[in-house]
Amino acid sequence: MDPNVRPETMERITTPELAQAFIDEQVAAVKEQVRDKKVLLALSGGVDSSVVAAILIKAIGDQLTCVHVNHGLLRKDEPEQVIRVFKDELGANLIYVDAVDRFLDKLAGVDDPETKRKIIGKEFIDVFAEEASKLEGIEFLGQGTIYPDILESKDGIKAHHNVGGMPEEFDFELVEPVKLLYKDEVRVVGKALGLPDSMVYRQPFPGPGLGVRCVGAITRDRLEAVREADAIVREEIGKMDPAPWQYFVAIPDVKSTGIKDGKRYMGWAAVIRAIHTVDAVTAKSVEIPWDTLCVIRDRIIAEVPGINRVLWDFSDKPIATIEWE
Ligand code: XMP
Repeated sequence: MDPNVRPETMERITTPELAQAFIDEQVAAVKEQVRDKKVLLALSGGVDSSVVAAILIKAIGDQLTCVHVNHGLLRKDEPEQVIRVFKDELGANLIYVDAVDRFLDKLAGVDDPETKRKIIGKEFIDVFAEEASKLEGIEFLGQGTIYPDILESKDGIKAHHNVGGMPEEFDFELVEPVKLLYKDEVRVVGKALGLPDSMVYRQPFPGPGLGVRCVGAITRDRLEAVREADAIVREEIGKMDPAPWQYFVAIPDVKSTGIKDGKRYMGWAAVIRAIHTVDAVTAKSVEIPWDTLCVIRDRIIAEVPGINRVLWDFSDKPIATIEWE
């Protein structure tokens, strides 16, 4: 039986009971695979790697080392939440790497989106490899591969970062406890593991993070503006019921004239985007109530330095992609 093929008999995990049974089964399987050896895991704070970390902590405790790389492109409070949940609450062996300067220095002056992505991807691997080389006796690499990653890699749609994406010198055996699960099942399992809702129901977030939303060459001040404005939009649009599938802010590298304290005030425009989609291949703009738009506009203008306009991008995909990059 191919271990990368989901058996037809496997029941869809939709209830806490089914999730608990899955967790028990995987904890036993990980113990059996890893025995007394050590595992390394890159913990981004996304739902997949978080669920894998929680399962591995249950199975092998401090034989697991998690590495959380802060590349400076994370959303507001994300690194703090990873530390709080995994180090403080779950007692994980967590290495936090503050690589903010390193990433932002490499990205300075780079405006081509693909080059930005490549720099971020390469730097991430380099930082992770450096951390791995400091540790002794690691034989396994934990990964948050999920079933769609395997299917898409097989079909040649995309070489997913979780499937064959690590460099060859990483001669580790993989531990991938959720590789046969679909995203909705990973969330049910995450909930049963006691992870917070903000992690379990997290919106999709690109690997290169806010880097794709700080459109053009990234500067620290505009990146900070994206982060702050994004936090406001997530808070305010998050109150909608149902909340859109994905909602965020992008800030292109363009300034326009405004007025502040009776003087010309050149500022950026914060662009709000809220969409609904099933598969992210096509997307429809979600109607945001006028009152919510006004609250967002007023808060961003009052709370985020550097912004003098707030725009709403209500384009559908196609023709616009979801992200602005
Ligand atoms: P686009 O902009 O192509 O985005 O319409 C489609 C969906 O994919 C997300 N996205 C990413 N997700 N790694 C990810 O895991 C990435 O590098 C990445 N880039 C875009 C995007 O947020 C949207 O939901």
